[in-house]
Amino acid sequence: MLDKFYITTAIDYVNGAPHIGHAYEKIISDIIARHYSLRTDNLFFLTGTDEHGIKIQKTALSKGIMPKQLCDENSQEFKDAWAKLDIGYNRFIRTTDEDHERVVQKIFQRLKDNGDIYKHEYEGWYCPGCESFLSPKDLTQDGLCPNHLRKPDIVKEENYFFKLTKYKDAIKDYIKSHPDFIVPAFRANEVLNQLEDIQDISVSRSKENVGWGIDILDDPEQSIYVWIDALSNYITAIGYDPDGSSDQFKKLWPVDVHVIGKDILKFHSIYWPAILMALDLPLPKHIFAHGWITIDETKMSKSLGNVVSPTSVLEHFELKYPDAFRYYMATSAPCGRDGNYSDTDFKEKVNAHLANSMGNLLNRSLSMLVKYFDGEIKEEFLTNRSKEAESLLRTASGSVKIIENHFNHFELQEAAQVIIGLVDSANKFITDNAPWTLAKENKMTECGQVLATVLEMMCIVSSLIYPYCPNIARDMAKQLSYDLTTKYDDITTSNIKAGKLISKEEIFPVFLRVDSELADKSKK
Ligand code: ME8
Ligand code: MG
Repeated sequence: MLDKFYITTAIDYVNGAPHIGHAYEKIISDIIARHYSLRTDNLFFLTGTDEHGIKIQKTALSKGIMPKQLCDENSQEFKDAWAKLDIGYNRFIRTTDEDHERVVQKIFQRLKDNGDIYKHEYEGWYCPGCESFLSPKDLTQDGLCPNHLRKPDIVKEENYFFKLTKYKDAIKDYIKSHPDFIVPAFRANEVLNQLEDIQDISVSRSKENVGWGIDILDDPEQSIYVWIDALSNYITAIGYDPDGSSDQFKKLWPVDVHVIGKDILKFHSIYWPAILMALDLPLPKHIFAHGWITIDETKMSKSLGNVVSPTSVLEHFELKYPDAFRYYMATSAPCGRDGNYSDTDFKEKVNAHLANSMGNLLNRSLSMLVKYFDGEIKEEFLTNRSKEAESLLRTASGSVKIIENHFNHFELQEAAQVIIGLVDSANKFITDNAPWTLAKENKMTECGQVLATVLEMMCIVSSLIYPYCPNIARDMAKQLSYDLTTKYDDITTSNIKAGKLISKEEIFPVFLRVDSELADKSKK
């Protein structure tokens, strides 16, 4: 068992509603958290919303409401969406939370007192979309922000600057000596290149231009700006305080993994380590930069009108549980690569994997157990099984380790492929051994052994699929009289015991095929 596991997501800007890109990140983080909840008794999963800055101030202004009201409304929308997706976080932090604001002020003061923050007159290009200054090298040939394809604002102000350049060499050394710090590793070079060009960064804005930010304690003209505020959520949420942190903080820090999108990797693998070094805190163990989710292979954007909300997918397909959507999202791309959402592909994949392969297998085996044995497992079903059966069960035990290893590297699609691989082998096993034929030939012991082997496999599958599909897993386990709360190391064979397992009335499908007609109808 691990002594703890601390995982965070990016905190989302609340200037709009949650879309499936945001949902993707929260889902993969929740899956990682649920997996690790089987490997430690001390798991902490943090998510939340990022509520200060010019973008939010402007959105509120355009709606004629106060920024705080906009934040309250939209933050609640994120929370509601995560509830519908079964995102089981331990804390939802808002950067407008009083405890966060208070500690951020102290952090700023500490950095300033230590000489890591200084005041400087500055003129530069600012992209409100990125909430960041851009250097000429960052811009496209037409002088646009490459992420938002808009002309940055010219900003001339006296601001506070953080001495990022002071930490450049230390960060470079850290990245080079910790090859698993940036996940996937192929992104490390990109970061090392960005590091070559870094400048000190502006960490405050004049109150006159950007009023919606945390006040600087000893300078009423300026407010703390975006990244020191936002990044600090990872430590303020668990009780960091420069004057003495909570026991919880001491137990949980350094974080095991920050899950973030590839667009904000620079902030997490350069700015954040520098701030932590300046605070004399240990660095994160892993920064996992996931890829980008497109819709029908197109970038989601308000102007294209193709922004998909996660709850609309659940409603559109009339899904009882979010499990199928979680499964689809988590398996949409190899670790760190871009993924895509399409209605058609969603339907095909979840019907194939969750209904036809996994759900049907359980349903068929249980139904046969009822038909041939009145739902009872006999002693002789569990001993002297065929070589093929024993080998199948060994493969299942082996997969438990393989999947653990994938999770150590945040390879969720890869881990899911191993699970579906198990289901496929169990399906092949039942086809090859045809228990229905064995029953006809009155080879009842062999028939029962085949069924018991498959049910044994399904116990393991339910534990392994649990992080992705917690409701389906629970429904599978229930029909198998299997205890899902097992520790990861206890996921092993010998869960099926002799005795009555199930009666006809207790059997139900764990996942109903997504109805293609329904989806087609609502499209018209
Ligand atoms: O960047 N596909 O907030 P944000 C996958 N507040 N991930 C996506 C995505 C997409 N289409 N669109 C956005 C911020 N994301 C800051 C973070 S953290 C201290 C501060 C991801 O609302 C994005 O990569 O713009 C980021 O990780 C998260 O959603 C929030 O994005
Ligand atoms: Mg963004």
